[in-house]
Amino acid sequence: ALFIMAGCSSQEQGTWQKIEKEGKLVVGMSADYKPFEYHDKGDNIVGFDVDVLKEVSKKLNLKLELKDTAWDGIIPGLQAKKYDLIMSAMTITEERKKAVGFSDSYFNAGQIIAVLDGNNNIKSVEDLKGKKVGVQLGTTADLEASEMEGVEVKRYEKIPQAFIELNNGRVDAVAADLPVVAKYTLEHSGVKIVGEPFTTENFGIAMRKGDTELLEKINTALAELKQDGTYDEIYAKWFK
Ligand code: ARG
Repeated sequence: ALFIMAGCSSQEQGTWQKIEKEGKLVVGMSADYKPFEYHDKGDNIVGFDVDVLKEVSKKLNLKLELKDTAWDGIIPGLQAKKYDLIMSAMTITEERKKAVGFSDSYFNAGQIIAVLDGNNNIKSVEDLKGKKVGVQLGTTADLEASEMEGVEVKRYEKIPQAFIELNNGRVDAVAADLPVVAKYTLEHSGVKIVGEPFTTENFGIAMRKGDTELLEKINTALAELKQDGTYDEIYAKWFK
């Protein structure tokens, strides 16, 4: 019995050890959320999160591999070890903390709504009663909107689909993170932002619970990027 116990206690190889051995960070993201992560015209995955990740991997002396994953199912994919991290404009929430570990926050955001230019009835979230709001399935926008009384929530796999439905008149508003909505309204005519952000949220990099060594490495790398100005450069590039 002692023998078996000794065998069991020989530590299972940790995620960080595996990453170091393979020399690469494998990250899951839902590349549908411009400007955080999206496909450019050449079909490369680019964005703020991608640039931060590139610098994080540089600091850790690792290659970077991105796995484009549907948002709905991105946490199960982490648990199934399809990747070791999620960086996908993911808000740190108490609910998600039950399932994953989060790095220190790397971005502050908040949910906001957009409507068609000609809409003068919806001036803020307060006016959504009796209206349809489009959100990305399983996001904090979905959670928030689902709790608003008398609001009909239409859920889409990706946020661009919600904007198409806004243009078609099938939803009255779209709710998502401010930088995403701002980017969309900047690049497409006929839609405008209304009101103020109605949540405050912090984005974090998610990993499996118990990956404490990995967590430490990620937090240290993030802190260094903030200190040496790299973070600010990336921020200015995407959110000037
Ligand atoms: N911040 C929101 C959340 O955590 C939306 C994130 C959606 N991310 C994405 N890449 N589509 O729920």
